Amino acid sequence: MRRTRTRAATLAAATALLAGLAVAPAAHAVTAHHHAETTLGQLAERTGRYFGSAVDNPELTDTDYANLLGKEFDATTPGNGMKWYATEPQRGVFDFTAGDEIVNYARAKGLKVRGHTLLWHSQLPSWLSSGAWTADELRSILKNHITQVVKHYKGKVFAWDVANEITNEDGTYRENIFYKTIGPSYIADALRWAHAADPKAKLYLNDYNVEGTGAKSDAYYTLIKQLKADRVPIDGFGMQAHLALQYGFPYQMRQNIQRFADLGVDVAITELDIRVILPSDATKLAQQADWYGRVTNACLAVRRCVGITVWGYSDRHSWIPSVFPGEGAALPWDENLVHKPAYDAIRNALTAAGS
Ligand code: XIL
Repeated sequence: MRRTRTRAATLAAATALLAGLAVAPAAHAVTAHHHAETTLGQLAERTGRYFGSAVDNPELTDTDYANLLGKEFDATTPGNGMKWYATEPQRGVFDFTAGDEIVNYARAKGLKVRGHTLLWHSQLPSWLSSGAWTADELRSILKNHITQVVKHYKGKVFAWDVANEITNEDGTYRENIFYKTIGPSYIADALRWAHAADPKAKLYLNDYNVEGTGAKSDAYYTLIKQLKADRVPIDGFGMQAHLALQYGFPYQMRQNIQRFADLGVDVAITELDIRVILPSDATKLAQQADWYGRVTNACLAVRRCVGITVWGYSDRHSWIPSVFPGEGAALPWDENLVHKPAYDAIRNALTAAGS
């Protein structure tokens, strides 16, 4: 009798839960508690993906911030710590202090690490950017840099942005120092050298304004198709997704992710933030939330979209205000580490996909 009643009560509670209803106070409290403890990282894992946040080294000393990041996310990317200026400040002299700090933090918190980035036109050390190199010299500098850095982080970094921002808006190659000195072959070579240094790391090309279809993402589509045909080791395409409300939502984002997946590479959203023109207000934050949900859903709709990384998670630490004056409030948590509507939108999208 007693047992029957218990079972009936359990069944009723389960039915009510399934219906999304609050049941007896005790059961509700347990549910709410459980809900609060499920992190974005865990929700993403239920869909076979990760949800990460970038972190810059100085932010590790902001204890509340670093602790919450370590708790809520299951992946991280160094905001600056693995860039060339940091890792090879003098020719042939490597310094892994900043990157190691983030790798150690990630290990302590159980996060996996995306490496960012092996080559980029920006944040190069001046010995490199101001040098007058022959093609052979620069090729050997690039090969040595990639080899040393990837070897150092072998087994600690699961994916690398091998080449960052290598095309222009019209889809032509960006005339960075590597292109100007070596020509376009530096891209395939960089991927091959990275693969030789860590055959297990997933190797990506990464850029902004490639989330939707258009000339720039078309260029990457063509390039990756060619790299695959040439059997160059390319595993993924990173869409930075530095979005801004005033420019509109990327055109056909889901279809665009899908076409890269159909080429046989993974896709990752690597640096997501959605800035608004300041001052922010409830209307803008609601639209921002809608966009965060749409980006999350676009990724979740494609099996090979393997994860999402926000470029910092709180408006307390964001690159936006210094680079885009008058803009900001781009992240899902505010300056006080309180959730914004964007957080709920991400959470709802992940929850729906994982159930
Ligand atoms: C940004 C960092 O967040 C800043 O701290 C730094 O001053 C400049 O670079 N695209 C990228 C990232 O690939 O490396 C950039 O990170 C943001 C734009």
